[in-house]
Amino acid sequence: MKEKFSIFTAIAYTSAKPHIGNTYEIVLADAIARFKRLKGYDVYFQTGTDEHGEKIAQKALENGLTPQEYCDNISQEIQNIWDIMNTSYDRFVRTTDKNHERVVARIFEKLHEQGDIYLGKYEGLYCVPCESFFTESQLVEGKCPDCGREVVEKSEEAYFFKMSKYQKQLEDYLEAHKDFIQPESRKNEMVNNFIKPGLQDLCVSRTSFDWGIKVPMDPKHVVYVWLDALTNYITNIGYDVDSQTDEFNKIWPADLHLVGKDIIRFHMIYWPIFLMALDLPLPKKVFGHPWLLMANDKMSKSKGNVMYADDLVSIYGVDAIRYYVLHEIPFGHDGNITDELIVERINSDLANVLGNLVNRTISMAQKYFDGEVSNQNVLDQFDSELVASINSLDERVTKRMDELEIGKAIDEIFELLRRSNKYIDETMPWSLAKDENKRARLETVLYHLLEAIRVSAIYLSSFLPDTSKEILRQINQENNSFSFESTLKYQVLEPKILFQRIENKG
Ligand code: MSP
Repeated sequence: MKEKFSIFTAIAYTSAKPHIGNTYEIVLADAIARFKRLKGYDVYFQTGTDEHGEKIAQKALENGLTPQEYCDNISQEIQNIWDIMNTSYDRFVRTTDKNHERVVARIFEKLHEQGDIYLGKYEGLYCVPCESFFTESQLVEGKCPDCGREVVEKSEEAYFFKMSKYQKQLEDYLEAHKDFIQPESRKNEMVNNFIKPGLQDLCVSRTSFDWGIKVPMDPKHVVYVWLDALTNYITNIGYDVDSQTDEFNKIWPADLHLVGKDIIRFHMIYWPIFLMALDLPLPKKVFGHPWLLMANDKMSKSKGNVMYADDLVSIYGVDAIRYYVLHEIPFGHDGNITDELIVERINSDLANVLGNLVNRTISMAQKYFDGEVSNQNVLDQFDSELVASINSLDERVTKRMDELEIGKAIDEIFELLRRSNKYIDETMPWSLAKDENKRARLETVLYHLLEAIRVSAIYLSSFLPDTSKEILRQINQENNSFSFESTLKYQVLEPKILFQRIENKG
């Protein structure tokens, strides 16, 4: 029986085409999902789109479409971009899916019946784009704490969720599960700003627009978009208020929620409390990842500094862009993207370190042995160091992946690739080739290099899946063990450049 691992991304708004920043999250999730599959887990990986709310209805109107038509188009566009990025999600969900809408209405009804939701009146400060009410003290410099925009005074009849009832339970949970929120610094921020001052009851319905799921017992209200959106994680895997499928019981609770730093509050406070109210287990971990900035600035259409994944891929290729975002966005603080930086990374890491190693090794195997290489066991001092580096890769990469330090996990692989390039300089195969008596040593050197490349390529499959496949095709080796094998037979194919150096900006 394989151990299960379930991973969920946030679901993207269908208000506009997602930029490379939004796309980062699905690539990050994909790398983790692929790595877990590589390590033998039974992985479930879910993503999708968040389609209701006032802002999306407004966008549809501006485009002369019904909200449903508009969402159909954008949701498809988002799915296309996720596919262009070669992401291996198992299910792409939509909040306009009929079953989701039905179950959300039932959840609302259940929470109302059990007294967690009550009818009241909301008077407060409201952020239109975020569709959220705030208290004065939650504002940052008088503006929305999530997006930094102006808030307006607003009053409306609304249903409320009694967050305060679950305050203690949430505090106890956070106390007992220290690594529930990653990175920890973000947790402290939420605890101090939202939990310690006392949880406000949350407004969970709206009457000012109708693009949403109708509240069953009071249909002039639609369900607040976050109650609708967060429940996507359970409605699509077989949860219903009075029955749950085997699939649900297998997948839930989530092992990992991946969300941007701006929406941690929803996943650290509201989502756990909704689950407590439904008497369901809580996710094991929420990772609030940092953001990708464009030239150190927040991407925005109005500033005209938005980069899109499909454009970048058509210039640089999918694995170069995957590599860039996975490697350049650290665990705890924002990453940066510009064309110059992408070109720099392609040239220095992908072309020089990875591409060169593979190309040089295969070319030498062809030149000196017509591609046929096996281990002649004529060993020298440098070999054991290379073998140690190959054999420790599994532990090093796994540790980094468990810590959600994806960039550093990739660095560990590149460390082996760099070590292998150094091994070429140390062993000087071109010089061995000049001496007929050293053919067995030369073949041993090439064998060690091919093993380093094989094991690296296996780990690269989580991050650069196409490149990994291409390397394994060129070295023509199907053995998939994670460590140095001493008795394989290689018959490598013709070398083919993996990454071209880019001399001028694409
Ligand atoms: N619909 C909500 C999420 C609901 S989850 C139940 C939402 N959508 S979003 O389209 O605005 O954002 C989708 C994800 O992209 C979020 O996790 C968000 O934090 C992330 N990002 C948005 N801009 C980003 C960057 N510039 N960089 C990295 N991630 C970014 O929020």
